[in-house]
Amino acid sequence: MNIALLGCGVVGGGVLEIAEKRADMSVKYVLVRRDKPELGEKAVKDINVILNDPEVDTVVEVMGGLSPAYEYVRAALRAGKNVVTANKHLVAHYYKELVELAEEHGAAFRCTPAVGGGIPWLVNLERVKRLDSVRSFCGIMNGTTNFILDAMHTNGSDFAEVLAQAQELGYAEADPSADIDGLDIQRKAVITANVAFDACLCEADVPVFGIRSVCAADIAAADGRGRICKMLAFGEKGTSGVSCYVEPCFVPAGELEAAVSTNRNVISFDTELTGKESFYGQGAGRYPTAYNAVADCVDIMNGVKSFYTRSFRSVPVDNGAAVHPYYVRFNGADDFLDSVSVEDCGEGVITMPVPVSKMHDWAAKAKEADPELFIAGLM
Ligand code: HSE
Repeated sequence: MNIALLGCGVVGGGVLEIAEKRADMSVKYVLVRRDKPELGEKAVKDINVILNDPEVDTVVEVMGGLSPAYEYVRAALRAGKNVVTANKHLVAHYYKELVELAEEHGAAFRCTPAVGGGIPWLVNLERVKRLDSVRSFCGIMNGTTNFILDAMHTNGSDFAEVLAQAQELGYAEADPSADIDGLDIQRKAVITANVAFDACLCEADVPVFGIRSVCAADIAAADGRGRICKMLAFGEKGTSGVSCYVEPCFVPAGELEAAVSTNRNVISFDTELTGKESFYGQGAGRYPTAYNAVADCVDIMNGVKSFYTRSFRSVPVDNGAAVHPYYVRFNGADDFLDSVSVEDCGEGVITMPVPVSKMHDWAAKAKEADPELFIAGLM
């Protein structure tokens, strides 16, 4: 396999290192924005060198962001080159178009490292669907936010300091807002829901509340109820549509998700025949993510061609039937919150069970009045 690598940052450097040690693949080009003398003749700045070289059969995109990644990946697929990408933003945003383009041009399109870093999540989701039907999924899909929440619980760490550590360790996105505001998880939830339910959701369909405003009082409130605060993504197939959302949750201390430390992720599906199966591992970082990118290349060499699903149903997203109590810390007077609160909890309150759609709609508006608002679902 002759690879062209688009981007050579944390993950790209890992891909280069792993691929170069293998006898069955070689990295012919690395597309870079800035000079990288250590790459020698591999370094190119013009995508056309790659697109016009018939020896390059596979493009591995690890540059991140929408543009120019989208233009480059689209051009590579149109040129009939296989594409492997770790870019969840790209896949979630242009899901249908890229999957269809690959099929039209007979190219493979794989994105296993885009969800779960080093965890073989999408490949197992694809595998279980061969003979079973996915009812729901749930999980910790972001290493950075798990690293932050874990450190706040276990060491009482300060949010900003531990975020800086996650950036140094190469877990966080270039703009860590995508992590702490939950957008990175929203994209992973979109891709997962689309594969799991043969759907065609977009990011705007999936309400998200992040952990930007989480503080020591919220961690203490979770601890006080024998729970651990975790960022979770949920998806469930309903009778006429799907439910899908992302929010912090207070998870009972004995549950699997509560025990997940540092940058690790755990993602589970629940299916009709096999029940709940969980996949655990490093959800971010150089080698875990690079490993899954190279594993996709190996799958392609072994003949894997199609995406994880070939169906796209346009299904409505409805989070009205997903109902649970919330912890809410809001500074101010509010009729809705008063009407659903059932008890005080530290600096916040616990509500009666509230539909997820209602709580997220309220929180989106209430944040304007109190930017420090924090909500967490009670599992
Ligand atoms: N920023 C992401 C995370 C990288 O922290 O999980 C892996 O997708």
